[in-house]
Amino acid sequence: MEDLLKSYVLSQETYYQIRDTISQELSLGLSKSCERSSIKMLISYVQNLPTGREIGEFLALDLGGSNFRVLLIHLNGSPSAFRMESKIYPLTDSIKASVAVELFDYIVDCVDDFLKTVKISHYPVPLGFTFSFPVIQSGLASGRLVQWTKEITCDGVVGEDVVRLLHEAIQRKKTLQVECVALVNDTVGCLMSCAYEDIQTYMAVIIGTGSNASYVEKVRNIEKWQPDADETSDEMIINTEWGGLGDNGCIDFARGPADYIIDDRSLDKRRQIFEKMISGRYLGEVARLVLLEAVKANLLFHQPGRLVEAFTKEYGFLTKYLSEIESDTGKTHSKTRRILTELGVKDLTYDECSLVYKICRVISKRSAYLCAAGIAAVLNNMNRPEVTIGVDGSLVRCHPTFLDHMLQFTKKLINPGINIKMRLSEDGSGKGAALIAAVSIRKMH
Ligand code: BG6
Ligand code: GLC
Repeated sequence: MEDLLKSYVLSQETYYQIRDTISQELSLGLSKSCERSSIKMLISYVQNLPTGREIGEFLALDLGGSNFRVLLIHLNGSPSAFRMESKIYPLTDSIKASVAVELFDYIVDCVDDFLKTVKISHYPVPLGFTFSFPVIQSGLASGRLVQWTKEITCDGVVGEDVVRLLHEAIQRKKTLQVECVALVNDTVGCLMSCAYEDIQTYMAVIIGTGSNASYVEKVRNIEKWQPDADETSDEMIINTEWGGLGDNGCIDFARGPADYIIDDRSLDKRRQIFEKMISGRYLGEVARLVLLEAVKANLLFHQPGRLVEAFTKEYGFLTKYLSEIESDTGKTHSKTRRILTELGVKDLTYDECSLVYKICRVISKRSAYLCAAGIAAVLNNMNRPEVTIGVDGSLVRCHPTFLDHMLQFTKKLINPGINIKMRLSEDGSGKGAALIAAVSIRKMH
């Protein structure tokens, strides 16, 4: 048992080493030799945090998490007067694997449908587009997709300007009076939306389908980027894209056998190495592979016929099972027993339930600690005394202990003199996209 788990129970020393590696990759990603870093450190073109006094009516799209949402946001001059209406639309696997025109026509159809259900006072209505994938932006409202992540494959989008693709689809629709004024990563939207409520928010982290972080950097530290001569702000939100950490092999010392298998079988091999160790899209699969090792070592389900599909089929063991199993606080393991019975495993012994629980806990704790190492690296580099960190994503929201493990371990890894709070984002990233759109419109006028 100890042998089986040793690749996933990392020592405090190893976590220090990971934190320091991340710290170096973050700095390298800002330098002129940025292509040597596995952390992209993308320029967001968002340079001002919200004041709370933003005004206007904005549409927002939120694409890339577990839900695709269209939102209408009313900013009325103060956070307490903020209002939002939204609708979730399905984004099927077939659309995710289709082609650009199909994806963007579908998005625009959803906007069109949504507009029929709400009242808009002025047209054309400005739109903030939360697009939760790595994009190299050339301005606030333009940017090329570097690569798909989270197992999406839709053809004809990589390398293209996603705002142009959206506008072309809007034009094909003819009747739609909508203009995209801001392209926003979900972590940047989350940062803005939390900063609207708490002015000490200088960082945001998402641990959902994917995982990523953004933070406020001093422009003078961004060696690879030259501001325009008339630029007044000395800060810039950087979208780290930390999910790509390790794509150059720099955290191989911390990877276990399951991490290599998942990467090998994925659609984007040797990419998003860190994300594949920590995020909701993959965590159930990490647990399943370790559970299978336990079966092979005769520690679990050894009688014939007890190995059911949930354990034999790729991605058959869902990340949400970890949250359910680990919320089993009672001594009898009644929840674990119920879930495994529902999955078809019969006659479980107490020891088997304990082992399943233990494996899930080791895997989710490793994820929380790895995120803590990432957060601590950003905070140590940023070196601000008081920071609130906006947090979002289904894994951190649904898991019973993830947030606490991540917070406590981050506190261990940060430099003395830094005080932190973590704040779960209330309204998702769409609100942040609307705030960014509001600031951009103010600038344009
Ligand atoms: C939502 C945000 O709350 O969380 C999205 O509005 C974000 O922008 C998402 O992508 C991330 O979590 P998940 O679990 O849906 O991938
Ligand atoms: C993936 C995307 C990134 C996004 C994150 C969380 O890592 O590449 O852009 O922020 O998922 O949704």
